[in-house]
Amino acid sequence: MVKRLSGHGSKYRMVEMKSMFFELTLNIMMRMIAGKKYYGEGEHMKDLEEAREFQEIVEDTFTLSGASNIGDFFPLLNWIGVRSFKERVMSVIGKKDKAMQELIEERRSLRRNGFKVEEKKKTVIDVLLSLQETEPDYYTDKMIRGFIWVLVAAGTDTSAGTMEWAMSLLLNNPQVIKKAQAEIDVQVEKDRLVDESDINKLPYLHCIINETLRMYPAGPLLVPHESSEDCVVCGFNVPRGTMLLVNMWGIQNDPKLWDEPTKFKPERFEGLEGTRDGFKFMPFGSGRRGCPGEGLAMRVVPLALGALIQCFDWERIGDELVDMSEGLGLTLPKAEPLEAECRTRSSVLNFISQL
Ligand code: HEM
Repeated sequence: MVKRLSGHGSKYRMVEMKSMFFELTLNIMMRMIAGKKYYGEGEHMKDLEEAREFQEIVEDTFTLSGASNIGDFFPLLNWIGVRSFKERVMSVIGKKDKAMQELIEERRSLRRNGFKVEEKKKTVIDVLLSLQETEPDYYTDKMIRGFIWVLVAAGTDTSAGTMEWAMSLLLNNPQVIKKAQAEIDVQVEKDRLVDESDINKLPYLHCIINETLRMYPAGPLLVPHESSEDCVVCGFNVPRGTMLLVNMWGIQNDPKLWDEPTKFKPERFEGLEGTRDGFKFMPFGSGRRGCPGEGLAMRVVPLALGALIQCFDWERIGDELVDMSEGLGLTLPKAEPLEAECRTRSSVLNFISQL
């Protein structure tokens, strides 16, 4: 991503950030799942035709499945037409299943032909296929298809959306970018790109991400939970099978719990890293069904944002503030895709040209 953006040197250029973040996170997930990427160029790139087909399936599935269980949130909609919409979703799901099966077959045929994958380069599919050998009734192809799709669906849009909201907030608050840039300049040597081992040395960057996740959580209602037994919670009888929706957005933006909740103030998280703070901040949910991707997201998001802040100066397009309206969709998308202008910082020109 940094290499692509730096192509224009020290002149400002316009960047469409929504698709850039989506491509980045999808590439990361697909490298982990299947060992290949579907956007950009380079050694792990799929051939172009196949990549284009995959991109289409993913984009269609995201557009449709974002709303496919909207009837769970608003049951009345099930009676007024959402069912026909669900049929459209099913057709896209058929295409997606075929694409997932092709990925499985590719790794399976490598294994059959005796290709030994180095331990470090094993993909998620390789691991699931070796589990299939020992427990074939549990690790069926259908289960593997579902498992890898859940990773793509839950791990791509959420992280990409968080980066887009964070950059939007930063563009509307340039003094915060300056402070984050100063932190990185002090903590990371001048002759190299920020990397994973630096993340823990960048508390202010973490504050920016926490504040973004507070104001714009990618799971604003978490995911629907269901009581497996009758139980009593705070004096309320909850029968077995009751669906529970948690309004996390409401809690994280409640003026009774937060001082000036509509203001972007990363400093409010200083010294609070890693605490749940009385459950008033839970952008990844909590407990047994909390987000299993939290650790990954909290590496990918700071690393990507850290690199963008370290390597580029950022400006809004024109004088107007970035429009922060929320669009429709379960992962709280921005209504207007973010566009911004960036130019490579002169202090990084040396190492950037060697990437
Ligand atoms: C900024 C990024 C992310 C955010 C804000 C986020 C948020 C969430 C939330 C709120 C939940 C529901 C938790 C609950 O109901 O208690 C969830 C579930 C889940 N997330 Fe994430 N997530 C992110 C990234 C990821 C990534 C990168 C992956 C995969 C690699 C992932 C995989 C999942 C899965 C599989 C579930 C369902 C867990 C279950 O039902 O047991 N997420 N996520």
